Amino acid sequence: GLGAKARAAGYRLKGYDAIGSTNSEALAAAATGDPGGIWFAALQQTAGRGRRGREWLSPPGNLAASLLIIPETTPELVATLGFVAGVALNRALSLVLPVGMVRIGIDGADGADGRSRIALKWPNDVLADGAKLAGILLESAKTPEGASAIIVGIGVNVVAAPQGVPYPATSLRALGVQRTAQDVFEALSDAWVDTFALWQDGACVDRVLREWRQSAAGIGAPVAVSQDGSVRRGIFETIDASGRLVIRDDDGARTVITAGDVHFGAT
Ligand code: BTN
Repeated sequence: GLGAKARAAGYRLKGYDAIGSTNSEALAAAATGDPGGIWFAALQQTAGRGRRGREWLSPPGNLAASLLIIPETTPELVATLGFVAGVALNRALSLVLPVGMVRIGIDGADGADGRSRIALKWPNDVLADGAKLAGILLESAKTPEGASAIIVGIGVNVVAAPQGVPYPATSLRALGVQRTAQDVFEALSDAWVDTFALWQDGACVDRVLREWRQSAAGIGAPVAVSQDGSVRRGIFETIDASGRLVIRDDDGARTVITAGDVHFGAT
C-alpha cells in the first residue's frame, strides 16, 4: 500500500491486480472529475504504454503506478515533473536496494566493483548498469472544470525485464534484489511526497534538478539524440532549468533539446 508519509499527506490508492494501463485509468478518472492525489497501481498491465507511442510490458509482479495530480503551474514547469518522479524513484530505489549494492551518481566503470550503478537517463528513465530498470510517462488531461491534470506514470521492472525491446533491460530480481512491487511502491509513494514538496515550493525546483543531474548518466560524455529520424550529436553538457537537454558540438555551439532518445557513447 501507500507509505506512511504518503498516507499522512492525504494521498489515496486505487489498487488493481491487473488492468490495461494505470495511466489510462488515471486519465479517465481525471476527465470525470476525480481530485488530485490519487495513485493508481497495478501488479500487471495488459496494455501498458511507454513514451513516444511505444508499448510498455508489465508482466505480473512488476510495478505499474500512475499518480493523478492537478498542480497549479505553468506549461514550462510541467515537464520538470518527470524529473521530480525520477528523483523520487532514485531515492526510493536507494532505500529498497541493500546497502553496499548500489552506487548512485558516482562516475567510473559501471559495476566494476560488483555493485550496480543506478543512474537517471534523460529524460525519464532509470538505468542499472546501463540497462533500463524503470521508465516514466507523463500525460495530461482536462478536468471537467477545465484545469490541467497531470498523470505521472511509473513502471519498474521488479521481477522481470521485458525481452524483445530495442534497448537492454534489467530488473531488480536480475540484480539480485528480492523485493516486491509493493515494497518499491511504498518507498516511492513516500519519496514522492518530499520531492513534490520541493517542486511545489517554486524556489526549490532547481534543487530537484540539481539532484537529478547528480545521478544522471552520461553528463560530460558524447551522446547522440534521435528524434523523428534526425540525429544530433555532441557532449551532454547538462539539463537546463526547464529540464531540457543541453548538448555542445565540436565547434562549441550549444543545442537545447526538448524531446528525443539518447544514445550514449556516440561521437
Ligand atoms: C517509458 O520508458 O517509455 C515510459 C514507461 C512508463 C510505463 C508506466 S507503467 C505505469 C504507467 N501506465 C502505463 O501505461 N505506462 C506507465
